[in-house]
Amino acid sequence: MKRLGILLSGRGSNFVAIASAIRERRLLGAEIAVVLSNQADAAGLTAAREMGLAAFAVPSAGRKRAEHDAEMIARLHQHRVDLVCLAGYMRILSAEFVRAFPNRILNIHPSLLPAFPGLDAQAQALEYGAKVAGCTVHFVDEAVDHGAIVVQRTVPVLDDDTAESLAAKVLEQEHIAYPEAIMRVLSGDFRFEGRRYVRRAKPSTRRLRGPEP
Ligand code: GRF
Repeated sequence: MKRLGILLSGRGSNFVAIASAIRERRLLGAEIAVVLSNQADAAGLTAAREMGLAAFAVPSAGRKRAEHDAEMIARLHQHRVDLVCLAGYMRILSAEFVRAFPNRILNIHPSLLPAFPGLDAQAQALEYGAKVAGCTVHFVDEAVDHGAIVVQRTVPVLDDDTAESLAAKVLEQEHIAYPEAIMRVLSGDFRFEGRRYVRRAKPSTRRLRGPEP
């Protein structure tokens, strides 16, 4: 069983989607080891406690990033976390944090990266006039909204969409994309080619294609 550490700052709907996928056996081989939030009043933290999960606030306000991140890293190690999942965690990770979990941190962003990184991604897409929007689950590296892409899902942008209606449609896709990405990463069936995440062909597929040259 691989142990997930979920980091969130607010609503926590992606966390709930991951927890539901585990409960409904759509996400196999994973369990949630701990939920951490830098905001003590995050709704996601309350939801985690109601589910009986280990859930802690590690307040960030007024603390140096290095000090706060060191406590987060310690908590994640303490709960023997294999994969860190940022789910609406509204803090930039320090390089030390990223290095503590090399290729073992995922993030979800509500745009088709590399378009519209940063805040209010759905409103950015709408204002820009994009006709397709979506979400991206990616590995976290030392740059913001930047690491190798694992899963993307799209939605059409309609003429009468507002930032809110678009965000709602994207969020529905986020809830499908995140469990799927976690499952893929935990399977270990991938390699990196430059910054590309590439899935390995399943043995059965290889057989159909014949022996490798
Ligand atoms: C999501 O839109 C996610 O893509 C972004 O922050 C939002 C978090 O929503 N990183 P929730 O807290 O998971 O409901």
